[in-house]
Amino acid sequence: MHQTIAVLDFGSQYTQVIARRIRECNVYSKIYHYSTKAKVLKKDNICGIILSGGPSSVLAKKAPLPDADIFKLGVPVLGICYGLQLMAHMLGGKVEPSKQREYGHSSLEVLDQSELLNGLPAKIRVWNSHGDKVIKMPRGFIAAARTQNSDFAAIEHPKKKFFGLQFHPEVSHSEQGINVIRNFLQQICGCEGDWSMADYLKQSVEEIRAKVGDQKVILGLSGGVDSSVAAALLHEAIGDQLTCVFVDNGLLRKNERESVENLFKRNFKMNLKVVRASRLFLSKLKGVTDPEKKRKVIGRTFIEVFDNTVKKLGKVDFLAQGTLYPDVIESVSIEGNPASLIKSHHNVGGLPKRMKLKLLEPLRELFKDEVRVLGSELGLPKEVLWRQPFPGPGLGVRVLGELTAKNLSVLREADAILLEEMKRSDWYYKVWQSFAVFLPVRSVGVMGDERTYDNAVVLRIVESQDAMTADWVRMPYEVLQTISSRIINEVKGVNRVCLDISSKPPATIEWE
Ligand code: XMP
Repeated sequence: MHQTIAVLDFGSQYTQVIARRIRECNVYSKIYHYSTKAKVLKKDNICGIILSGGPSSVLAKKAPLPDADIFKLGVPVLGICYGLQLMAHMLGGKVEPSKQREYGHSSLEVLDQSELLNGLPAKIRVWNSHGDKVIKMPRGFIAAARTQNSDFAAIEHPKKKFFGLQFHPEVSHSEQGINVIRNFLQQICGCEGDWSMADYLKQSVEEIRAKVGDQKVILGLSGGVDSSVAAALLHEAIGDQLTCVFVDNGLLRKNERESVENLFKRNFKMNLKVVRASRLFLSKLKGVTDPEKKRKVIGRTFIEVFDNTVKKLGKVDFLAQGTLYPDVIESVSIEGNPASLIKSHHNVGGLPKRMKLKLLEPLRELFKDEVRVLGSELGLPKEVLWRQPFPGPGLGVRVLGELTAKNLSVLREADAILLEEMKRSDWYYKVWQSFAVFLPVRSVGVMGDERTYDNAVVLRIVESQDAMTADWVRMPYEVLQTISSRIINEVKGVNRVCLDISSKPPATIEWE
């Protein structure tokens, strides 16, 4: 049994980020509802408690309060933001509404003798988001740090090991945040830091088994990182009770279907149902040129095909999805956030309700980099775990204008050459995305003694952190030259290769 840190959740959007930081320190944590009784925590043998932030004010009538006995368990407690105010409020200090909401960065001045902030520089930039502030500390507490806005930006009770922080150490905008959390876990709670993703895997497998029992699960496998890791994890847990459905919509890259079949069917020996539906997709897309309409047709047809396939499988109880934690945040985020729009194209959002299936999201707590570590524990290869993002509508949004089998095939060949050369030159894993786009524009060329009148292909190679902004990659000329001459020589129907040198914004990464 690993040492456990309890995170009491008061509704902060960062609660899962706290859990993630704790995992980063190789410590096991469990998120509990804020009202969990102290005796439950005691039974779980926890070695420390973190009170999360939250949107409420401790001064409000219906403020969510923890069981007061958690302060009597004899384990260290760290309150973050709302958690700090709770501590001050419940242990005899005073909190008052601040005239100004403090939101964003501030400079934290670390005072002497702080156990929690031990080893940190005297001044650090931290990130805040709070309305109320502590104006009097409870008895026995000392001030550990201050900001311009507050004399009690960090407080601690050295004897009882209670600590409060006004800022959010868990967010990446807070400098040294991870060191603060590490101090709490290792120096103060005595955690050994021997927990790892292998333990997470074991535990996830047990949880999935307990939840699924002997029921059946279906998963739409796209071959991307998230659905591949979800598939491997579920397969490890429930074996043949899982069926994966891979839809070949005719908009895939060269050999994509074959490599998914090879990996999951032959290697992992999964129940994989490959549905060849390219004719259906192309017939539905006939005459469609508007980009938004294309996406909608592709999305609708996918649901239709998926739905029909599942119906033929007999009784199924769960629909599994490779939703990650950032998807969860994005899907509840402010309207108009382009990130959440992107996801809505891709995932099969309305499906579980329509199909009357229970939803299973085994990666829901994890961040992308953690999913990769988990995937590697499960034996997935680097090519899958570090694959570049590929949009749900696939080559459908990379062949401009109407989609025809011929244009798609031209693009597929050109794209395969581009990817091959990116890998050969060691550039593939250094960039965010690299792909070819087919332009239905014909221009004049000359090949041998003959005049040609053929289409153009654009190379789109970008670097990015999160796809929200992107820039074109300054690729070496030699690599570009090899790609260009190979495409023109080897792909019939292309006599011109262009390079896209637009950044996002104002351009987008994809062309449609
Ligand atoms: P844009 O073109 O908007 O793309 O700059 C940003 C990122 O999102 C990907 N993308 C999609 N992903 N379904 C997806 O799953 C889609 O419909 C979709 N459209 C764009 C794109 O490849 C890039 O990584």
